[in-house]
Amino acid sequence: MKHVFVFVIQELAGNGTEELDLGGKVVVPGFIDSHVHLLYAGLQMARVKLQGVNRKDEFVRKIKESVRYAKEDSWILGGGWNNDLWGGELPLASWIDDITPYNPVWLYRMDGHMGLANSVALKLSGISNLTKDPEGGTIVRTVDGEPTGLLTDSARKLLLPYIPEDTVSERREALLKASSLALMRGVTTVVDFGRYYPGASAELSWKDFSDVYQWADASEKMIIRVCLFFPMETWSRLHELIEEKGRAVSQWIYLGGVKAFADGSLGSNSALFYEPYANEPHNYGLQVTESEILSNMTMASDKSGLQVAMHAIGDKANDLILDIYESVVSTNGIRDRRFRIEHAQHFAPGAAARFGRQGIVASVQPLHLLDDADSATKKLGMDRAQKESFLFRSLLASNALLAFGSDWPVADINPLGSIRTAMKRIPPAWDDAWIPSECLTLNDALKAHTISAASACFLDNDLGSLSPGKLADFVILSTDSWDDFAAEGSASIEATYVSGVRAYP
Ligand SMILES: *[C@@H]1O[C@H](CO)[C@@H](O)[C@H](O)[C@H]1NC(C)=O
Ligand SMILES: *[C@@H]1O[C@H](CO)[C@@H](O)[C@H](O)[C@H]1NC(C)=O
Ligand SMILES: *[C@@H]1O[C@H](CO)[C@@H](O)[C@H](O)[C@H]1NC(C)=O
Repeated sequence: MKHVFVFVIQELAGNGTEELDLGGKVVVPGFIDSHVHLLYAGLQMARVKLQGVNRKDEFVRKIKESVRYAKEDSWILGGGWNNDLWGGELPLASWIDDITPYNPVWLYRMDGHMGLANSVALKLSGISNLTKDPEGGTIVRTVDGEPTGLLTDSARKLLLPYIPEDTVSERREALLKASSLALMRGVTTVVDFGRYYPGASAELSWKDFSDVYQWADASEKMIIRVCLFFPMETWSRLHELIEEKGRAVSQWIYLGGVKAFADGSLGSNSALFYEPYANEPHNYGLQVTESEILSNMTMASDKSGLQVAMHAIGDKANDLILDIYESVVSTNGIRDRRFRIEHAQHFAPGAAARFGRQGIVASVQPLHLLDDADSATKKLGMDRAQKESFLFRSLLASNALLAFGSDWPVADINPLGSIRTAMKRIPPAWDDAWIPSECLTLNDALKAHTISAASACFLDNDLGSLSPGKLADFVILSTDSWDDFAAEGSASIEATYVSGVRAYP
């Protein structure tokens, strides 16, 4: 098979063709990451990084270090912390108040649904014991009713307006840095969901489009392809733009569709479930957008021909969206619409089969399986966690389209890591797979990061496989043995080509 393929390619060579001797190395299509927050990831690269921090004193030390170089009154931003790594205790403003007396601080949790403010930041944004919880969010408080510094979901809206906006040049720099890192990891196309928390200003996504993406495109600085999704409440604006420009603004920028949120996240106990959290018996999670609003927006977006994606993590949130999608189809009629559910992490019985039956794309992030394994068993209980989490094999068995992504910067952008994780499903410090029957083969995992990911955003005519007529985006891997790769899932990126031109290293 291999030889036939080589022969066919050689037939196509003309005298302008550059021939590379790859020494038998495996070549795969350029990876497509189905879910990133690209500019946000780039911005985070320049901020306090708390990913992987597993002790309180380390957390405090990192803040101390960044305060040392900060101007008085300037915001200390960053995050990526995961309290599950130090035993679960949530951080408090009081941990860092005495080392940050002159600087407001805002540090998001790794899932982005929660963050820690210090007392300077709380004061600056007027959050006190007298402030009421906004709908869809919580100001976490002590038993005396004093804010602890933690703000979840929409409660972040009380503080975010006080953080100065990133400048245009910071955001442009962020795009360039993030894109270079993507190429290093073999990613040639990303689906960008913009600013990722519920309640983020929709305007920001549009400003990023005009200030950053259009600038980069016009000044020939785009080095990866992006497919952009916009907040669903602005669907008519996207509809008009597509009418004007078409879906492909250029070979680099595609206008994707619209996205809204059904629930929060598991890490912040705000993913929406039928059963309460095992560690919080009265908490079922949060529905962050009213059903009628989600339903009306989906109906209108779909009617105008836009692709719709919904964030749903908990089992109840997934069912809610499956129901909405079903009713929109019955009203608007059958067409090739490729409705997506982003994350699709926990399912009630029967949900995986509904993805297949209804033709819903499951846009999932295998690397979250590693981050969530311990907390899922704690928060859902072993029984639920073992039955309903990250059901990739079941989704494929139901004929659903499975698209892989990273949710970068929530998890690292690393398709080879995510492919391996989907094959092995072994969380750190575990001996065995988490639900072994849900492990994928290399082929299935590879498809989910290439051709299926391309189909999931309607780019399969141009991308996702090494086929005549498609754009020549491909990756050379370090391994020369397909069999070893299929057994272990391990390899590294030797080189990344975009449109047939070497882009990395
Ligand atoms: C091949 O190269 C020659 C000389 O450089 C040129 O004249 C000819 O047009 C080329 N042929 C093709 C098919 O590009
Ligand atoms: C709120 O805090 C202020 C100042 O610390 C205090 O005087 C007041 O009693 C508190 N109110 C409530 C309702 O806890
Ligand atoms: C949703 O749409 C229905 C039918 O058009 C309308 O009556 C209702 O007011 C809308 N609800 C919201 C929350 O916009």
